[in-house]
Amino acid sequence: MTYWFFDPYHQQQVTSPTPSSSQHLQIRAATSADLKAVAQIIAESFHSQNGFWGLVFPLLRLGIYEDLKHRLLLSSPHHICLVAVNTSVDGIQQLVGTVEMGVRVSDIWTRDNKRFLYVSNLAVHPEYRRHGVASKLLTSCEQVSQEWGFDDLYLHVLENNYQARQLYFKLGYKVHKVESDMNIFLFRQSRQILLHKHLHLDAST
Ligand SMILES: CC(C)(COP(=O)(O)OP(=O)(O)OC[C@H]1O[C@@H](n2cnc3c(N)ncnc32)[C@H](O)[C@@H]1OP(=O)(O)O)[C@@H](O)C(=O)NCCC(=O)NCCS
Repeated sequence: MTYWFFDPYHQQQVTSPTPSSSQHLQIRAATSADLKAVAQIIAESFHSQNGFWGLVFPLLRLGIYEDLKHRLLLSSPHHICLVAVNTSVDGIQQLVGTVEMGVRVSDIWTRDNKRFLYVSNLAVHPEYRRHGVASKLLTSCEQVSQEWGFDDLYLHVLENNYQARQLYFKLGYKVHKVESDMNIFLFRQSRQILLHKHLHLDAST
């Protein structure tokens, strides 16, 4: 079986091996109509809905939605939110994953003041995990970044996020920097690791 893998930048489709069923997966740029579903997936993936957190969950989701809407409205030439849309055998479409990528200008991480692309908010609906959705979203990020003329991608992952670390290492990301241990005491229970992937700009890679 095959499913459609959509290149959002070239507006061009290529086939890719299907995970396990005859469903079709499309990767495309998000539109404002997708934002509620995108906010839901991000909120579910990064925030608990148990106990007290269940009460504040709608607020967290609304905050994510408003932030996304704001970033989309800015129409920055070097910002994109990608979505993975699954079409079932019955023709029902469901948004099953998302990722964002944008330019950061800072010398904090790279120490050389250059503009670089930063990947964030990668999340896949729990029922669709381990079917290659995140891998395809990240591969699309690479394609878009190469079109934009960038040859490096950066992202943060928490040290205790084993599944995400496995994903990034499998796709060729390397540790660029482990953030200060102070983060453990001040902000989080786990250290943040900055990962880096160098992309080869020639067409053969
Ligand atoms: C991390 C996440 C995005 C992975 O999405 P996914 O679509 O399931 O990932 P893929 O199917 O493309 O996985 C590719 C590879 O990543 C690794 N991987 C993914 N999930 C894994 C898990 N639960 N355990 C171990 N390895 C895992 C595996 O090497 C996998 O390859 P394999 O299935 O051939 O073994 C998803 O689990 C998620 O949304 N988690 C919550 C949000 C999050 O942590 N986002 C990342 C923030 S940095």
